[in-house]
Amino acid sequence: MPDRRHFLQQLSALGLGAVAGARVLPRVRIVGDPFTLGVASGDPWPDGFVLWTRLAPDPLNGGGMGLDDVPVRWEVATDDGMRQVVRKGTAVATADFAHAVHVTVRGLSPDRWYWYRFHVGDATSPVGRTRTMPAPGASPSRFRLVVASCQHYEAGFYAAHAHLAREDADLCTFLGDYIYESSSARRVRAHEAGEPTTLAEYRNRYACYKTDPQLQAAHAAMPWVVTWDDHEVDNNHAGLVSERRDPVEVFQLRRAAAYRAYYEHMPLRRSSLPVGPDMLLYRSLEFGQLARIHVLDGRQYRSDQSCGDRTKPPCEEWDREDRTMLGATQERWLTRGLARPGATWQVLAQQVMMMPLDLDPGPGEMFNMDSWSGYPAARRRLMRVIGERQLPNVVVLTGDVHANYAGEVPRDWRQPDADRLAVEYVGTSISSEGDGMDTYPQVERARASNPWLKFHQARRGYIRCEITADAWRSDYRIVPSVQTAHAPIATVASFVTPAGRSVVEPA
Ligand SMILES: [Fe+2]
Repeated sequence: MPDRRHFLQQLSALGLGAVAGARVLPRVRIVGDPFTLGVASGDPWPDGFVLWTRLAPDPLNGGGMGLDDVPVRWEVATDDGMRQVVRKGTAVATADFAHAVHVTVRGLSPDRWYWYRFHVGDATSPVGRTRTMPAPGASPSRFRLVVASCQHYEAGFYAAHAHLAREDADLCTFLGDYIYESSSARRVRAHEAGEPTTLAEYRNRYACYKTDPQLQAAHAAMPWVVTWDDHEVDNNHAGLVSERRDPVEVFQLRRAAAYRAYYEHMPLRRSSLPVGPDMLLYRSLEFGQLARIHVLDGRQYRSDQSCGDRTKPPCEEWDREDRTMLGATQERWLTRGLARPGATWQVLAQQVMMMPLDLDPGPGEMFNMDSWSGYPAARRRLMRVIGERQLPNVVVLTGDVHANYAGEVPRDWRQPDADRLAVEYVGTSISSEGDGMDTYPQVERARASNPWLKFHQARRGYIRCEITADAWRSDYRIVPSVQTAHAPIATVASFVTPAGRSVVEPA
């Protein structure tokens, strides 16, 4: 019996098994806690949100739920004691989706907090807190946002997440590198295995991350809006070009597995359901008239990095007009979204640094070819949209580089005094690359080449933003160490962007 079960699990792990034979069990007996991965919510709109959990009594070994589909009851209440239940229902956790559940809740009141939980068999999940967005056209007085990215499990503990959970923010935007496919050079704890390539391996990697109680607390405290960067699939991949330049057919299979596992573990809308190696992740959300958040996908459709990737002086292909970061369809979607009136602040929640960062301290140029500085034509097109339409209050939020930066995006980086068309707040990692340092010497040496750069710092943490109709404030929150799960948090710097001016000023 164990052998047959093991065999069926293997088939299922390959996406080949048991779908036709799956039954929905009317009565469920689960040995162990099915809620080891916690709960989450995300992508809120004015009358609802997505609720998420995944049943996994044996999280690191495929989940341990077997091959049957299982009904999961859910409840939404207006109080944390779950006494005033205003919506409830039953969702089916299918073996086909690793017993993940995505519930689309609608019909709720705008601009308020709710609490939710799940039941399966005799087990009840922890209670999560989430909220709806303000009604369209409403003018909320403030919006509080936290910005996080890059949480290498091996590189550090998640004390920053525990603090982030207590920030009383309306929303967390997570800007990529939720998991890492590769191992960290310095480790405080270990992944279960080598680089994932199959669906079963990616599922186990997500489960490993999601067993962390501080990450679970951050999810349970507020809705998350997520996008990915490279490590959810493969380091510095670009479209269907993998790091090691695998045959496209091979990398398509890997990307399909990675995208499927990503969807299974994130509180994403049904519209993001992947189809093979494709997944629609770019989307927009509105916080009344105060903010429109454009969530970008700068990985799936981008041209291959030029000049051999890494930090290089520009080469000939670098400035080719046809090279793209977002792909033509997403570019058109973003142009339409930016042009639509009705939002004070336009937020680009995205992966890689947009402001130019010339790392050559002298008259030459040297850019990170994986960032927007490696895609100058794509950045020019975006700046043209912002500049020609005179869009005020464009704020770029970024992850990727495991360092804090604040600065202004100029119209033309070859003219130091050029207009600044947007501001950018780059958030450091939650844990990736270990404790970090106060500043990167390479960046400090090149300060004169980057007059738009106002702040740089490389400890671990996140950004807390407070947004009103008058100003955007960003507080850079850091922990002194990721070697312990109980590090304290402190604000290392605060900046303000007044409405109507693309400047970053000390608060
Ligand atoms: Fe990262």
